[in-house]
Amino acid sequence: MSKSSASWRSSDRIPVAVVGPTGYTGLELIEILGRHPTIRIDYLASARVPTPRIDQEFPRLAHRLAGHPTGECEPIDAAKIAVRCRLVFLCLPHEAAMEHTPALLARGVKVVDLSAAYRLRDSATYERAYGHTHTDAAGLPRSVYGLTEWFRDEVRGCDLCANPGCYPTAAAIALLPLLRAGLIDPSSIIINAASGVSGAGRAPKPNLHYPEANENFSAYGIGVHRHQPEIAQTLRLKGGDFGAALGGEPLFVPHLLPLERGILETIYAAPATAGLDTLAVQSCLKAAYEREPFVVVRDDAPTLRDVQRTNMLHVNGRVVNGRVVLVAAEDNLVKGASGQAVQNANLMLGLDETCGLL
Ligand SMILES: NC(=O)c1ccc[n+]([C@@H]2O[C@H](COP(=O)([O-])OP(=O)(O)OC[C@H]3O[C@@H](n4cnc5c(N)ncnc54)[C@H](OP(=O)(O)O)[C@@H]3O)[C@@H](O)[C@H]2O)c1
Repeated sequence: MSKSSASWRSSDRIPVAVVGPTGYTGLELIEILGRHPTIRIDYLASARVPTPRIDQEFPRLAHRLAGHPTGECEPIDAAKIAVRCRLVFLCLPHEAAMEHTPALLARGVKVVDLSAAYRLRDSATYERAYGHTHTDAAGLPRSVYGLTEWFRDEVRGCDLCANPGCYPTAAAIALLPLLRAGLIDPSSIIINAASGVSGAGRAPKPNLHYPEANENFSAYGIGVHRHQPEIAQTLRLKGGDFGAALGGEPLFVPHLLPLERGILETIYAAPATAGLDTLAVQSCLKAAYEREPFVVVRDDAPTLRDVQRTNMLHVNGRVVNGRVVLVAAEDNLVKGASGQAVQNANLMLGLDETCGLL
């Protein structure tokens, strides 16, 4: 069947596929798409043998399948997906995402990739950070980084959107306005971040085991986390002259919070101008985000409860003892993953960016 006569024309809702629906971002995506007025899930794709039924994997999804007739997963088959769907969400490990993306793009399907496979412009940086070969380096120039608030025009016209990492989303949204305005010294940035356990995915790991994680709090990947080069790349690309002047990578220290979901980042930087005060920092953030539907500049520091299960990112900035202090909060599975993925898909499909997300 050719694209022009494909089955989506018989429906007033746009058919999409979710590949990797048995993980946490896939689950969140199905929840969001279940409320979406314009998109329906036509294809759930899993590599498991036998393929699972998603309403048995997650019984609470039985009534949320966004128009999917059965909840039955099918094998990951690019040709079949391309006949039935206009866009695919890849909720897969990085290596699996770069395995499937070229075949989907070659068949004219748009891809929103939630993994890190296409986020870094340079395959050598990717390979250093992720410790394995990039098997589709030729595909990197085609991808657009999907930090929606800062790459909106590029996302609108792209067919491969590299959805940002959860930690980099909060860090970049908090820092970019101040960097662009030349208010903070790029060499002084320290990002102190904490994430709920779902940030590590659904596959069991010893340190995520309940007796290890519960009532515990630990730092990990200090100064070497994979998201550090991604944060640096975005600050360089969109941070104006001060971003371009970023020497190395900003210091980034993530922590594991004994909660299901949510990211809170406390970010410190030295002012670049004498006499910088809280009013100037807050005014800069408010000017950048006053028209943004999913970013709220708060007069007080946000908490995780303010943003959990929403696509909102709350941020507050102030100057304390000669240091700029920013606090940003988001839900790692929504604004940090599946919510932002839908925000980007809406743009790629010519829909209102907020569809299904407010
Ligand atoms: N969790 C977050 O907060 C978050 C935020 C932003 C971005 N991300 C990124 O989003 C992607 C998905 O994350 P997640 O948290 O949803 O992970 P997850 O819970 O571990 O789920 C991974 C999914 O991929 C499937 N899968 C695993 N290996 C596969 C393979 N070789 N071929 C095909 N399918 C495979 C799994 O299927 P089975 O169920 O059969 O194993 C599952 O459906 C990752 O790249 C992650 O880095 C995650």
